Amino acid sequence: MASAPPSTHSAITLTVNGEKHPLTVDHRTTLLDALRERLDLTGTKKGCDQGQCGACTVLIDGRRAVSCLQLAVAADGREITTVEGLADGDRLHPVQQAFLDLDGYQCGYCTPGQICSAVAVIEEHAAGWPSAATDDVRPEAGPPELTPEEIRERMSGNLCRCAAYVSIVEAVARAAGERTGGAADGAEEAAA
Ligand code: FES
Ligand code: FES
Repeated sequence: MASAPPSTHSAITLTVNGEKHPLTVDHRTTLLDALRERLDLTGTKKGCDQGQCGACTVLIDGRRAVSCLQLAVAADGREITTVEGLADGDRLHPVQQAFLDLDGYQCGYCTPGQICSAVAVIEEHAAGWPSAATDDVRPEAGPPELTPEEIRERMSGNLCRCAAYVSIVEAVARAAGERTGGAADGAEEAAA
């Protein structure tokens, strides 16, 4: 019979991109370190390691979170999606394709976090969530238009040291337009 982990450790199961990974982790291990150091999922990047840059953004139960501020033990049993889990086989996620087509990056270090964040931004907007840039937050006003200003505000937790922001906004707008089947008007505005 396997011996019980020491009291400073716990046996957990991280479900990442649909795969279950049983692990014994030190209680101080962040989700970011567990992903990178224990599961070899190095797509998720460590930038500041203190919740300020967004490079480590992943989705937990469909919502974005900075994995450097999450303890791995707190992610036990939750559904985690990293940048490695967004594509469908060889077919890139529409957000990934838009970043590629529109040069939404330069060095690429912030890109996995930007992309995970953008995937969630598009879902949050589609669900009608307002942002700090939304003028009219009354329920009867309906969902705000995903303007470049809205995208910039919603993506403001993700810093890009190369300042590829113009293309990032354009890429998010295009992917959002594809999701709704509508025109990517924000993309045109962002490109203007
Ligand atoms: S590494 Fe997590 S926010 Fe910067
Ligand atoms: S592409 Fe270099 S930090 Fe964003």
